[in-house]
Amino acid sequence: MVLELNYQLRRFKPSDLDGVIRVNRECLPENYTALFFINLHKRFPGTFIVAEADGEIVGYIMCRIETGIPSFKLLGIRKKGHVISVAVLPSHHRKGIGYALIREAMQAMVNYNAKECYLEVRESNLSAIHLYKKLGFETARTLRNYYADGEDAIVLAIHLPRSIE
Ligand SMILES: CC(C)(COP(=O)(O)OP(=O)(O)OC[C@H]1O[C@@H](n2cnc3c(N)ncnc32)[C@H](O)[C@@H]1OP(=O)(O)O)[C@@H](O)C(=O)NCCC(=O)NCCS
Repeated sequence: MVLELNYQLRRFKPSDLDGVIRVNRECLPENYTALFFINLHKRFPGTFIVAEADGEIVGYIMCRIETGIPSFKLLGIRKKGHVISVAVLPSHHRKGIGYALIREAMQAMVNYNAKECYLEVRESNLSAIHLYKKLGFETARTLRNYYADGEDAIVLAIHLPRSIE
């Protein structure tokens, strides 16, 4: 789980809460209450992962395991991993942390028996879209007016193999 000399990925623990909230507020307009983070962690501890550098939380990903129709075949139901929020502090961008966080979360979703991973992203968020495409995500559909400010979301999804290479 060691990324570079100074970065480490590990599971979230409740004492990381302030650091995660700081990253969330600095990076995204979608912010959550402390209880929201803690509840997600309680329900799906394996898919809540932080990136730490020199004792500081510099990134996180938190997800939910859901049951629903697949993003592409739209037939039957299956377990799906839903990325609720992922962010890396701007001072640590382009070091591979976002990529590593998502890969780690995808492996954790496999451990929960999820068959796909999906997420919503603002259509203007080209850096995130580049990252997801690099990981192999494909566009499933568009959600009109998904965000509070009226922006559309693109739903991206990827099939999860039994283990993430
Ligand atoms: C999206 C985000 C998590 C990426 O984190 P990161 O650690 O900088 O990403 P990585 O260094 O792992 O980048 C991996 C790949 O993603 C793509 N990418 C990342 N940032 C990019 C940018 N600004 N422009 C173009 N491509 C980018 C590239 O393909 C990159 O590979 P490369 O560096 O070899 O070219 C980060 O920009 C962020 O926190 N943004 C604000 C919050 C956010 O938008 N979250 C997603 C909401 S859906």
